[in-house]
Amino acid sequence: MNLKTPYLGLELKHPIIAGASPLPDDLDKVRALEDAGIAAITMYSLFEEQITQNIVGAEAHVGSYENSFSEAISYFPEVDLLERGVEGYLEQLQRVKAAVDVPVIASLNGTREGTWVNYASLMEDAGADALELNLYFLPTDIEESASQLEDRCVRIVQAVKACIDIPLSVKLSPFFTALPHFAKRLAEAGADSLVCFNRLYQPDIDTDELDIRPKLDLSHSNELRLRLRWLAFLSGRIDMQLAVSGGVHTGHDVAKALMAGADVVQIVSTLLINGPGHFAEVLAELKQWVEEKEYNSLDELRGCMNYLRCPDPAALERANYMRLLKSWRK
Ligand SMILES: Cc1cc2nc3c(=O)[nH]c(=O)nc-3n(C[C@H](O)[C@H](O)[C@H](O)COP(=O)(O)O)c2cc1C
Repeated sequence: MNLKTPYLGLELKHPIIAGASPLPDDLDKVRALEDAGIAAITMYSLFEEQITQNIVGAEAHVGSYENSFSEAISYFPEVDLLERGVEGYLEQLQRVKAAVDVPVIASLNGTREGTWVNYASLMEDAGADALELNLYFLPTDIEESASQLEDRCVRIVQAVKACIDIPLSVKLSPFFTALPHFAKRLAEAGADSLVCFNRLYQPDIDTDELDIRPKLDLSHSNELRLRLRWLAFLSGRIDMQLAVSGGVHTGHDVAKALMAGADVVQIVSTLLINGPGHFAEVLAELKQWVEEKEYNSLDELRGCMNYLRCPDPAALERANYMRLLKSWRK
């Protein structure tokens, strides 16, 4: 079956891409991803902080970052990736582009307004086929309201969009007060796709050392369910494409995400656990599943279980919450 998938103006050979991760730092892994059949590769992020502070010692910098909390710190990539800074990022992006034929999506990560957004155009110049903007943050400022925060994000998206001609996706956390409305605003601001969602890495408390311990746990398939619900609500109702990130480990997970309305599916944890070559298995599982279920095209599958089309929309909503709680038996 033809699995071709249009995404961010690109003609992908199927809907599964490598999400942002440290893998593109190693060209052997990049080639292994392509050999295993991946449809596109997302670079790890270049962070606003790398651009604005011209890092000398990444750890010292991370420690001094205003308003930061260990949850955000835990998200920073390996220190050596940070220390390479902007030049190193752009050079690696060029190397990755030269190493493979599949599209390469650059990733820019920031949350405050400023001139750092202009670096989006350097990523385009370095050969990025599209750009993913990750608005990863915790709203810890007690003075900033939800609407102020959303306005700020919208302005950042507009500013990045104004710098580039390549398509733009926006990666978000799921924790917005009115996510569908905010998503609609992002589309109006110029986002071509929404990536649902960031995983917020939860720090732990070390009770012996009286310290906060950042923790980076890889995902499990059950994390997909949060994404399935929101994809189902957004699919067919907003004017941008949808990508899913978080909890996709198998071909069956991919099928569920497509049914909920994802245009493409990003995977990371399973590639880090099983190696880039494992991707071939995920793709084979999807193909086998699609054939067994006798779907004629991905379009037939895509969105068939979204809020507008699924047989029981209430199961996605609050009514199901009541039913679920009342159905519990010892
Ligand atoms: C080690 C590691 C590094 C990551 N680096 C980035 C990054 O630089 N930028 C980004 O947007 N997401 C980054 N992510 C998040 C992933 O792109 C993805 O959203 C998350 O792992 C959920 O997908 P998964 O369940 O397939 O792992 C990283 C994840 C891991 C595990």
